[in-house]
Amino acid sequence: MTPHDAFIDGLPKVELHVHIEGTLEPQMLWDKAVEQNLKLPFQSVDDIQRAYNFGNLQDFLDIYYQGMNVLRSERDFYDLTFAYLEKAHAQNVMHSEIFFDPQGHTSRGLAFETPLNGITQALADGREKLGISSGLIMCFLRHLDEADAFKTLNQALPYKAHILGVGLDSSELGHPPSKFERVFAAARDAEFRVVAHAGEEGPPDYVWEALDLLKIERLDHGNRSLEDPKLVERLVASGMGLTVCPLSNLKLCGVKDMREHPLRRMLDLGLKAGVNSDDPAYFGGYVNENYKAVTAALGLEPHHLVTLARNGIDASFIDDAEKKVLRDRLDLYATAH
Ligand code: ADE
Ligand code: ZN
Repeated sequence: MTPHDAFIDGLPKVELHVHIEGTLEPQMLWDKAVEQNLKLPFQSVDDIQRAYNFGNLQDFLDIYYQGMNVLRSERDFYDLTFAYLEKAHAQNVMHSEIFFDPQGHTSRGLAFETPLNGITQALADGREKLGISSGLIMCFLRHLDEADAFKTLNQALPYKAHILGVGLDSSELGHPPSKFERVFAAARDAEFRVVAHAGEEGPPDYVWEALDLLKIERLDHGNRSLEDPKLVERLVASGMGLTVCPLSNLKLCGVKDMREHPLRRMLDLGLKAGVNSDDPAYFGGYVNENYKAVTAALGLEPHHLVTLARNGIDASFIDDAEKKVLRDRLDLYATAH
């Protein structure tokens, strides 16, 4: 608990870093497995929950890829996505830019269209029924090769209208952004927005590569940028948005204790950091729990929270008129409280 929990609950916010497959709650995983007669290496929902203890990113990814096996039909992806939107809406998320991992599904024999159609339909319903706006970003799995990423990009081209951008995720160490320089050039030529995970576990060099070679417009995580003052200077000067995920960093042991989390330092340095949930079903909380955890540990004040929410709006891929609407809602809230 912090004295600012109620302020955080009501704060109008955006989310720019959430993997839809990472919103698969143990209960839904269990129900989908039972429904489809799939054998799980778990005896109960509690058993699944207990397995969510990770020493590093790879430990988590092994469980995450296993979990997504229960997602097989458009309906499964619809249910998953709509359940996330309902939670986000209940937490006063006004706009969400959502990742999905097509290769995590096509590699299991699903058509590219199966996750895409289910997610897209849920996003449309989220807009209509909940009033939450959204965008979809497809991530290339960096542990796979360039040819596989190119194949995925080509599969996406006919659906350009439903896919806002491309990103890069999965096992970072040993898979630098340079591996995907040509794929990202092709994605930019096709007018996809471009983001990448970098500096989560990987060194500052990977962030430099994401900037210079992939020409990213937003940096996912970016925590290890703080090890390189020249890099910080570059990120501040360009106004680069950072999608920071505090509970993820704690659960994947990027920080040992939330009191050591770099978020407050990032703000003090002038970095445009925001707060996001990454894989909320696996890391113990959605966006509000992330705000509360860092607020309690770092002693953040309401003005910090408003800055974090504003940074999210600024770094989003909505147009200037839509940004103004969200900023006005945020300003109104900040003034009223
Ligand atoms: N895929 C899902 N969550 C991820 C994370 N935090 N880092 C890299 N890849 C991911
Ligand atoms: Zn992520």
